[in-house]
Amino acid sequence: AKMVIKRICCIGAGYVGGPTCSVMALKCPDIIITVVDKSKERIMQWNSEKLPIYEPGLDDVVKTCRGRNLFFSTDIETAIIEADLIFISVNTPAKSFGIGKGRAADLKYVEGAARMIAKVATGDKVVVEKSTVPVRAAESILKILRANNKPGVSYQILSNPEFLAEGTAIDDLINADRVLIGGEDTPEGQAAIEKLCWAANAFLAQRISSINSLSAVCEATGADVTEVAKAVGLDSRIGAKFLQASVGFGGSCFQKDILNLVYICECLNLPEVAAYWQQVIDMNEYQKSRFSGKVIEALFNTVTDKRIALLGFAFKKNTGDTRESPAIHVSKTLLDEGAKLHIYDPKVDHKQIMYDLTHACVTDDPEKVKNSVSIHDDPYSATSGTHAIVLCTEWDEFVSLDYEKIYDGMMKPAYIFDGRKILDHSQLLKIGFHVETIGKRLCRPLVNRIWGSPYQI
Ligand code: UDX
Ligand code: ADP
Repeated sequence: AKMVIKRICCIGAGYVGGPTCSVMALKCPDIIITVVDKSKERIMQWNSEKLPIYEPGLDDVVKTCRGRNLFFSTDIETAIIEADLIFISVNTPAKSFGIGKGRAADLKYVEGAARMIAKVATGDKVVVEKSTVPVRAAESILKILRANNKPGVSYQILSNPEFLAEGTAIDDLINADRVLIGGEDTPEGQAAIEKLCWAANAFLAQRISSINSLSAVCEATGADVTEVAKAVGLDSRIGAKFLQASVGFGGSCFQKDILNLVYICECLNLPEVAAYWQQVIDMNEYQKSRFSGKVIEALFNTVTDKRIALLGFAFKKNTGDTRESPAIHVSKTLLDEGAKLHIYDPKVDHKQIMYDLTHACVTDDPEKVKNSVSIHDDPYSATSGTHAIVLCTEWDEFVSLDYEKIYDGMMKPAYIFDGRKILDHSQLLKIGFHVETIGKRLCRPLVNRIWGSPYQI
């Protein structure tokens, strides 16, 4: 029988569930959408003026729909009972212990959500699973729901993996490249979806590691990786996107999905394939270490007790998300070497930065970290009195800072390390900075050095 969807419930109010449901509420004013989460704090934030996540355009969409046909609640049971359709958009992190630790996807939250549905549902439900591990997630949801079958309750299970990128989520949702919906009756279709999710993220990450590997060659030979990327990207078979060399990729998906792919390849006895994709991760680690190493080397091989400003902490611009952010890796290396960090990011919460840097996988001495890190509300106070600026996130506002003023307030020689290749390097050199970046060798113009005119060595 055809089912009319009047009410939707979404379990999980995170980076996927929140924006997806907000846009859905905007586009479908006749459907009532309730987003639930077990975290009281998250839901409180979704109901407040300051939303728990930052996405350009999200505030307006939520303001338009909240209280009209969009609701945020911790009453998971009621929302499930009332809904015709339920999205599961809980997190699927890598397992933190046991077989496949750090690599296999942990489905415990998906399972928890499915068990909750099985327990409280009273009528027919369509259950839509939104994670990027659809086969096993859908399978476990199906098994749990069917094993707890109640009279008068039937389930239809679909998967609808999400391809939105943070920082452009609203636009990605409104103008999606593709929408994938897989039904349970086609196991081959399900398997294809899973491959597609991994393949897309693995390919994207592989492009970044490829260009980053060439950035090392450019630095060694004096070429500019931006020129290389431009020329290569003009070949329409390759395309220009996702070829921006950087300090390394971050975010909650790329590393997790590739590690998952590597793990599955090993389990399938395909060690060469596993090694191939593992190298994409290894190259990313190398890039982050190489960048931090460059900072230390330029500062006369010691940063002990030096004040260093870190501009940007999010894993990319236009988000407050720090998961797998290269800034964490760079900070850790500098802190291990005894540096004093002054951190500024326009959107990341101070608490989040401290949490990321004092976490057990980053330090065994959180007190020492707390004493070595200060977090600032503006870039000028963060850079004042420092020996060096290390730029880790490509926020637009960093391009138009008053670098003359910043230079005047810094220790000399003043260094700037542009990990995103966004600054005007020739202007910075003119001001007097010692500038280093990714994939290009830069030196200070030495005025009147040889021929009486600015000459670059
Ligand atoms: C990614 C996928 O793009 C998205 O389709 C999927 O649904 C989820 O994972 P996201 O992690 O939000 O999205 O961000 P993305 O824009 O892909 O960037 C990932 C990382 O790569 C960032 O750290 C970014 O700064 C870096 N990056 C991206 C580069 O270093 N160079 C590039 O050219 C592009
Ligand atoms: P993603 O980036 O995939 O959206 P997040 O970690 O941002 O991941 O969000 C997932 C959300 O799901 C978290 O807020 C978490 O509290 C919530 N969650 C996990 N399991 C459950 C559950 N069983 N019931 C309700 N909410 C859950």
